[in-house]
Amino acid sequence: MSTDASDLAAPVVAPPGFFLETVRTVHHWTDRLFSFTCTRDPHFRFTAGQFAMIGLMVGGKPLVRAYSMVSPPWEDHLEFLSIKVQDGPLTSRLQHIVPGDRVLIGRKATGTLVTDNLAPGGVLWFFATGTGLAPFMSLLREPGTYDRFDRVVLVHTVRQAAELAYRELISKDLPAHELLGELVRDRLTYLPSVTREPFARQSRITTMIESGSLTADLGLPPLSPERDRAMLCGSEAMNADVRALLEARGFTEGSNSSPGTYVVEKAFVTK
Ligand code: A2P
Repeated sequence: MSTDASDLAAPVVAPPGFFLETVRTVHHWTDRLFSFTCTRDPHFRFTAGQFAMIGLMVGGKPLVRAYSMVSPPWEDHLEFLSIKVQDGPLTSRLQHIVPGDRVLIGRKATGTLVTDNLAPGGVLWFFATGTGLAPFMSLLREPGTYDRFDRVVLVHTVRQAAELAYRELISKDLPAHELLGELVRDRLTYLPSVTREPFARQSRITTMIESGSLTADLGLPPLSPERDRAMLCGSEAMNADVRALLEARGFTEGSNSSPGTYVVEKAFVTK
């Protein structure tokens, strides 16, 4: 399916429930992965870690999927990370957007990967596979995250190193950032891992948890609900497997009404 230019340029008025925003930049990481930034309506409010319905007008109707915001709430623009699926109804089109195109942003943001859903704790672990990294990019640039936890560890696992999106930003730009630099340098640890080609850390998240290398490599005691908190975002299989490992160690799932020691959300867009 190719993009019909009229689909991207057509709507002048946002359909009910959506903001109509303008694409500013597009970055293609690999042939399976891209990200883009767009303008942000001042009325669009969200908490770091949340998602909104994002998409395009197709055939005069909104075609949208859930996307986590990559950008932190304090940024004046929005950023999203997406896979590209050649026959995916939305991403086959969305991957062709260029600066100036219009995108739909659902007015209401929601989601469970918010720090309020976790009891305060010592170490906050972000476990991400693939585009499941998105909500953590927002959370790790939100100063409030560091108010509630002593330390933040981001574990991002992908098949190939080229899929380690935002690697430079996390490891080089953020530590040098004027406002966030000190927090990030002192409190954030980034553990990228790759499973299908040689890499310094070549392992699935589940394997690192089961072997204990995850915590041992950082000189930390084994994962425990006493002091650790976890947020999971990845494929259904990864979420289910990590959830089981955490529950076996006594972690309980948190929600809006009752904060717990872990929360989970799937990386939504698979088409
Ligand atoms: P692997 O290469 O060993 O399958 P995908 O692109 O399929 O979503 O996978 C992204 C990353 O998540 C890959 O590194 C993949 O490892 C890993 N992964 C897939 N399934 C699981 C799982 N059940 N538990 C842990 N990691 C997983």
